[in-house]
Amino acid sequence: MKQQNVTPAEGRLGIMVVGCGAVATTFMTGVLMVRRGLAKPIGSMTQYDKIRVGRGQDKKYLHYADIVSIASLNDIVFGTWDVYPQNAYQAAMYAEVLKPKDIEPVRDELEKIVPMKAAFDKNYAKRLDGDNVKQCANRWDMVEQLREDIRSFKTANNCSRTVVLWAASTEIYVPVYEPVHNRLSDLETAMHADDREHVAPSMCYAYAALSEGCPFVMGAPNTTVDIPAMWELAEKTRMPIAGKDFKTGQTLVKSGFAPIIGTRCLGLDGWFSTNILGNRDGLVLDEPENFRTKEVSKLSTLETILKADEQPDLYTDYYHKVRINYYPPRNDNKESWDNIDIFGWMGYPMQIKINFLCRDSILAAPVCLDLCLLIDLAARAGRYGTQRFLSFFLKSPMHDYTQGEEAVNHLYRQHTMLKNAIREMGGYEADEEID
Ligand SMILES: NC(=O)c1ccc[n+]([C@@H]2O[C@H](COP(=O)([O-])OP(=O)(O)OC[C@H]3O[C@@H](n4cnc5c(N)ncnc54)[C@H](O)[C@@H]3O)[C@@H](O)[C@H]2O)c1
Repeated sequence: MKQQNVTPAEGRLGIMVVGCGAVATTFMTGVLMVRRGLAKPIGSMTQYDKIRVGRGQDKKYLHYADIVSIASLNDIVFGTWDVYPQNAYQAAMYAEVLKPKDIEPVRDELEKIVPMKAAFDKNYAKRLDGDNVKQCANRWDMVEQLREDIRSFKTANNCSRTVVLWAASTEIYVPVYEPVHNRLSDLETAMHADDREHVAPSMCYAYAALSEGCPFVMGAPNTTVDIPAMWELAEKTRMPIAGKDFKTGQTLVKSGFAPIIGTRCLGLDGWFSTNILGNRDGLVLDEPENFRTKEVSKLSTLETILKADEQPDLYTDYYHKVRINYYPPRNDNKESWDNIDIFGWMGYPMQIKINFLCRDSILAAPVCLDLCLLIDLAARAGRYGTQRFLSFFLKSPMHDYTQGEEAVNHLYRQHTMLKNAIREMGGYEADEEID
């Protein structure tokens, strides 16, 4: 391995997951099963993808871990918080994503992963009624209690590094409110003043994580770390952050399929996306205020791939609609339909239909693993602030909108950003251009 400006991944890596639901338990169970040799980490880029490094005669295709030091699955130790007190074994059985035969072999390990009390506010997810919840005097107290949890977890598990991953429910939509979200000092004042409207519980987790020297990943569409105040905190604490919203089913397809239309210079009249989903995530998203957060995230994908200002004949005023319908019989097995109205030569219309029968948490679990391993890598490489190279894994990638930056949603450009960052951290040249 060529060396790198990266501290080696030595010691135990703590992964503290906010939420012990379907995604979290599928992720944890998979990692534990893989390291016992009982399952394969299919879909994980860090475990399977190969990147070309060098050119011409020196060209080689290497796994990420052969380019740069990445934590071994054997070194991972899990912690969690949840509103419900069930341990990760009980939660995995409840979620019914995995069959018992794929859970039982690691039951003993899962039973030891017991949720700490959640930093929770029912106004942010009205459909949840668990009582494993912290009593907090105000939002600042919430942060302090979470910081104590992180410190205790690190000590008890002898972790050399710890990452905090949000895989908890989608909170209600918190639009950016400049008087609180633009500057760190204002955010802190609002926490002390217990401003519950503008300080979501997820912000307290992020604040606590960064202050304790832990990178933070936002897997839901919450605006938590996508505000200038948190960027300031990430810079102050020299910690990397990434978000938002795991890119898994329909949006993965969209960000991979839209480039087909754009590359062939076909026109778009409309793209209608609908889903049925029956797990607890679907239940929470059935609440209009929570769905709004998801909708904003899902709608952003097309705008930066098929752009009206670049191709007014092809992409002006196309109609883009996204729906999620709660439908309990399907549980975690989401079904999505996309109807795409395109037009070709001389404006003649055509239609494309995509019907994806996916498994939400099966798609999300490898994304969780990759985000945790890669943000830990970023921290060891001394990178801090928003990690745009992780956009590949995210539905609504963070970018500095205050500086006019645009999100990159195009799946293949995101892959290039990912590969270039791994090359750079591995001491190679970042040699693929994004045009
Ligand atoms: N599965 C996917 O493909 C996918 C894709 C993108 C985003 N997501 C997001 O990932 C998140 C998790 O999805 P899921 O299917 O596991 O949902 P889930 O409902 O099964 O699990 C979420 C868990 O979070 C807990 N929770 C809620 N608020 C909390 C808080 N403040 N602190 C601690 N715990 C809290 C809930 O009690 C619940 O157990 C959701 O926000 C979802 O929108 C999932």
